[in-house]
Amino acid sequence: MAPSSSNPAGDLTSEILLALSKEDPISSTEAFPDVPFESLKAALDRLASRSMVAYEQAEREEAFLEPEAEVIVSHGSHEARVFEAVRQALDGLSIQDLESQIGDKMVAKLGQGKAFKEKWIKKDGAKLVALVDSINDVTRDQLKVIQEKRTHDPKIIADLKKRKLLKMQKVISFRISKGPKFALEMVREETDLTAEMLASGSWKTATFKPYNFKALGADQHAGALHPLNKVRQEIRQIFFEMGFTEMPTNQFVESGFWNFDTLYVPQQHPARDLQDTFYVSDPPTAGRPGPVSAEDKLDYDAYFTNVRQAHEGGKYGSIGYRYRWSEDESLRLVLRTHTTAISAAMLHKLAGQRVDGRVPPARYFSIDRVFRNETVDATHLCEFHQVEGVIADYGLTLGGLMEFMSIFFGRMGVTDLRFKPAYNPYTEPSMEIFSYHKGLNKVIEIGNSGIFRPEMLEAMGLPKDMVVFGFGLGLERPTMIKYGITNIRELLGHQVDLGFIQKNPAVRLDKN
Ligand code: PHE
Repeated sequence: MAPSSSNPAGDLTSEILLALSKEDPISSTEAFPDVPFESLKAALDRLASRSMVAYEQAEREEAFLEPEAEVIVSHGSHEARVFEAVRQALDGLSIQDLESQIGDKMVAKLGQGKAFKEKWIKKDGAKLVALVDSINDVTRDQLKVIQEKRTHDPKIIADLKKRKLLKMQKVISFRISKGPKFALEMVREETDLTAEMLASGSWKTATFKPYNFKALGADQHAGALHPLNKVRQEIRQIFFEMGFTEMPTNQFVESGFWNFDTLYVPQQHPARDLQDTFYVSDPPTAGRPGPVSAEDKLDYDAYFTNVRQAHEGGKYGSIGYRYRWSEDESLRLVLRTHTTAISAAMLHKLAGQRVDGRVPPARYFSIDRVFRNETVDATHLCEFHQVEGVIADYGLTLGGLMEFMSIFFGRMGVTDLRFKPAYNPYTEPSMEIFSYHKGLNKVIEIGNSGIFRPEMLEAMGLPKDMVVFGFGLGLERPTMIKYGITNIRELLGHQVDLGFIQKNPAVRLDKN
């Protein structure tokens, strides 16, 4: 038995089968003392999956020889060595001679004591003489057994342990026995039923490898969605469920007209400064707004004039901002600072529609990228994604907006909203939305909202009694909270770790 561990892993299965053919069951610690646990378990699993062997794992305490015990096994116990030396000296041995013969004072001393006790030797004057012809070196025999089997009668083990000749160690061993399909050789198992096997008929006699339904499939290295995209998808779904249609936001460049003027943002507003907004240098300006397709029958010239007049003053019951509105400023191209530019274009389009003679109610949303000239830090980038919704209907109230926001955020798992009066050039009243975040244990700002101003809506041609809610929130913040990211640069931009993108789990907003 005891095959060597130098055999390649593949041969281990044959070694196990061979060992079992001679003795059944076998203990792995006895039969394969030097094979590493992992290799042994792998080989046993292969055999067990084919029912060729059965095995149980057992943990047991095994006895190992201390260095002193190893010496006893090779040279005999102290007392036996003393007896042997005395017996060989036919007419006795002085203690001094004994010590020099054994070459170890300690062994000679301890051995004498025991040999006296066993009545193997006695003192005859100054000399030691033997009392018997031969002795049994019990200790050595016991240790020899333990060296091989690592176990013995518990009494013996206890005694030898007391004499500090043994140490005990926990060892995991396998009790291996023959399985119902035991054989000396492992049959080749087919993993596929091939056309050739069908043609030759070899499938009839082939052994097929059983399916392993517990196997984790191989890594497919498939593409992965960015976490922002996953959260975006969840929020999109909420909008769809609430009857919103998605706005076409696939343009990053807008004129100042759509990005600011239509939203009643005066031309001297700080948001329009170079420090806040990226201006496009080539080309620097857009043409005047006009139809985007042959079907587009809207009157853009009238709208352009209305916007100018609303800013300059005296329209829609408002005194306006009372400054000289510049067409050149309005036509400068910018990277859009918010998706509200698209909302304005959509509401303008809506104003041209009639159902049963009146402008129909509408719900629009978008989730897309916007740009601001910000100083980049852990929570700010100069581009981010905005979630935006608008609701146009008759008879809407501020209370209705608050109610709507509670329902909308509730669907994202955000509850207990707080509203704070705020200022936007295009909404009045305006409210910032806050919520207590349990994970962060603080109140955080989650969005901005309001009711669009008549100066903006009536310039588009929307009826006076139509009210339009608007709200916006960032996509990055909820995503960072969801994924526990503290630095936005880990989420977006060139520092993003692709491993993070691939490994992060699917998103489930804790919807109400
Ligand atoms: N445009 C606003 C922002 O950038 C969001 C908003 C949209 C606010 C519509 C009110 C109405 O924060």
